[in-house]
Amino acid sequence: MNLPGERNLMTATQLWPISTSIQDGRLQIADCDLAALAAQYGTPLYVLDADTIRTMAARYTAALHHTYAGIVHIHYASKALLNIGIAQLMHRLGLGLDVVSGGELAIAQRAGVPLAQVHLHGNGTPPAELAQAIELGVGRIIVDNLDQLATLAWLTARRVSRQAIMLRIAPDIADGAHAHIRTGAAAAKFGLPLDDGSAAEAVRQALAAPGLELVGLHAHIGSQLRSYEAIQETINRLLRFAAEQRAAHGWTLSELSPGGGLAVAYMPNEQAGDIDTYAVTVTNAVRAGCERYGLPQPRLVIEPGRSMIARAGVALYTVTGRKAVPGGLDYLHIDGGMGDNSRPAMYNAQYTAALVARPLDPPTTTVQIAGRYCESGDILIRDVALPGAAPGDLLAVPVAGAYTLSMSSTYNGVPRPPLLLLDSGHVHVLQRRETVDDLVLRDLPLNMGAASS
Ligand SMILES: Cc1ncc(COP(=O)(O)O)c(C=O)c1O
Repeated sequence: MNLPGERNLMTATQLWPISTSIQDGRLQIADCDLAALAAQYGTPLYVLDADTIRTMAARYTAALHHTYAGIVHIHYASKALLNIGIAQLMHRLGLGLDVVSGGELAIAQRAGVPLAQVHLHGNGTPPAELAQAIELGVGRIIVDNLDQLATLAWLTARRVSRQAIMLRIAPDIADGAHAHIRTGAAAAKFGLPLDDGSAAEAVRQALAAPGLELVGLHAHIGSQLRSYEAIQETINRLLRFAAEQRAAHGWTLSELSPGGGLAVAYMPNEQAGDIDTYAVTVTNAVRAGCERYGLPQPRLVIEPGRSMIARAGVALYTVTGRKAVPGGLDYLHIDGGMGDNSRPAMYNAQYTAALVARPLDPPTTTVQIAGRYCESGDILIRDVALPGAAPGDLLAVPVAGAYTLSMSSTYNGVPRPPLLLLDSGHVHVLQRRETVDDLVLRDLPLNMGAASS
């Protein structure tokens, strides 16, 4: 299959959803014509390929069940992208969910996901949301720090059934494409450091809390992980710590989570993390660690977000204008940008793009894709080679499924785009376009009497 204008088509292919094709010279996904969808739903428009999501879920499931001898739970990290339809799809695919707030928890609940299959994370979760999670019966709360543990101990002290918890450890290993998505360092805001005794103190306090059941340990060292050694060493440190705690308290670890974080490719020259290699890495590391420290094989929980959904997503924009820059790269203005995808502005994230109507035309120029928002930093793509584009042309940006709409805002009063799930020629509207009425829904008129003149 030939896909949008890149020199190395094999590498470029992995950027686009699995069901991408080109019919009559135009980009299609899941047998749906993108130009026709843009005409019907307007732009910016986000589409998701159901086939890609199903394939990623099946790859994780097959790889881990094939390699890991014990029980494996795969939880979709819903911060990557969540709404009721996505929660239902992930549940149908046999995945649990990770949530980070009472809001995400409520979405999972309204989607009908059994809350025993939902895990709650978060470093600053307000006590009311922790209480909500306990009341609703979430499967696990992943405890981030000692204060949160004290709150949970207090909230559960008089409950009949105990709340299962895991402790999030900061193993002092960090990996990830950008400082903002590296989370495993001892000095990072997340997790209980091993070296200063916080993690050991958390085990002591958790075991002393009558309403809590400490089932295991967790770590998530970062996103866009490219180092399998880092994952291996993270697991080793968690198991070594588990063995120390068994010696100290007779406590046995029954569940282990090395988090999520497998990298995806955003650019043609990048390689996505390999799910099979990841599964073998995790399995071997757990097996080796359990043998080394004399521990029983724990249940395994993994939490992929980006690698489950990023590639399924494509963002469609309309070119609204151009600006020639003497001696520099010309701009193409588009009708979206940092409001629907803040990753370039926040992380210097890179993307590529293609023209929907001429995806295979050879590039004739290199341009910057300028978002519509009133920030100089709102450049969606700094440097992309395209065939000459003019106002009205449709631009498709691949790998747009993760951490885009879930981080979107209404900055500049721009309503957020709709989200469509495309499946073998069928279009499921997962989220309609936000309206101006939605924007003012929370607003109340000023009520302080007529101003005196
Ligand atoms: C605790 C935890 N688990 C899982 C994930 C998912 O990471 P990714 O989307 O890179 O797979 C994150 C992302 O930040 C996280 O914080």
